[in-house]
Amino acid sequence: MFKEEILEKKVGIIGLGKYLPEKRLTNKDIEKIVDTTDEWITERTGIKERRIAREDETTSDLAVNAAKRAIENAKLKPEDIGLIIVATITPDMFFPSTACIVQSKLNVNHIPAFDISVACSGFIYGIAIAEQFIKSGAYKHILVIAAEKMSSVTDWTDRSTCVLMGDGAGAAVLGEVEEGGILSIYLGADGSKGNLLEMPAGGSRLPASASTVEKRLHFLRMEGNILFKHAVKVMAEAALKATEPLGLKGDDINLVIPHQANIRILNAVAKRMGIDPEEKLYLNIDKYGNMSSASSAVALTEAVEQHRVKKGDTILLDAFGAGLTWGAIVIKW
Ligand code: COA
Repeated sequence: MFKEEILEKKVGIIGLGKYLPEKRLTNKDIEKIVDTTDEWITERTGIKERRIAREDETTSDLAVNAAKRAIENAKLKPEDIGLIIVATITPDMFFPSTACIVQSKLNVNHIPAFDISVACSGFIYGIAIAEQFIKSGAYKHILVIAAEKMSSVTDWTDRSTCVLMGDGAGAAVLGEVEEGGILSIYLGADGSKGNLLEMPAGGSRLPASASTVEKRLHFLRMEGNILFKHAVKVMAEAALKATEPLGLKGDDINLVIPHQANIRILNAVAKRMGIDPEEKLYLNIDKYGNMSSASSAVALTEAVEQHRVKKGDTILLDAFGAGLTWGAIVIKW
């Protein structure tokens, strides 16, 4: 394919789907588990409740449910998909990849499938990868799934983290579109700050042992305060880097659909972007908490379902997470 053809090709999201486990865990429920209050959680984070997957429900189950809805929404069949990308930090197991498990559950054997580990920015990175593969002509339709069972890595004795997380999945089918589509992508990472949010054991550095289990090293750990400041800084920066090359200002964006980590982070980002959070910030953190990569995928799906995103709108996806990683994407719907 010639370079001009690649540049001319417009790639967009042609189908979306989400899946949230049935069980709701409210702040009042968490009051019975750790020393906290509904008031503290609501005021400091904006979260009122989150969904928790059943014990026998795995990340691939959440992923498949969201994927089936996205494929149907795109008016396609699973066999029309050429590549599966799953963004997750809570895979069913280390290997095989959750994407391969999803491929088998969707009965679409022999198409390539792989996971990406980008934490909360995973949906954005996944879309970025898919866009390149479609532009190059390698695949026609790509399924990007962001799925997390965060409850499986949550330390239910640590009040500073267990109030934040939730389980869920969102999926998008990407393909060529006639108008609009993805206008710009900006990705970033800073590995030197990886220790601010990590799950210390279980990998080659600290393989699972009786001692790592006893020290509770298989749960996520976080320096919430420091992360907060980084999140505001890099989410605002990512928004600027993705919009500036297009000559777009805050006013030109119809809706910002951010990763839902903390309502105070999002209000601070909106302020830096010069947008009215009431009008232009899509929020669902109150219902689901932080679902890592799945947060922005579920938020986008809901925003479209609720007609907050209309044809011709310019929207901005913006995320930040462990790694540290971050990214933003501008899409004309
Ligand atoms: N209930 C009641 N009190 C709590 C609490 C809880 N669930 N969790 C922490 N506290 C207490 C702390 O122990 C501390 O008490 P102290 O002052 O007596 O030591 C006090 O509340 C303040 O803690 P602090 O950590 O400074 O609160 P905060 O305002 O920074 O809010 C977070 C904590 C985690 C909500 C906030 O830092 C945050 O959201 N950070 C970003 C997290 C994030 O985005 N992570 C994911 C990135 S994708």
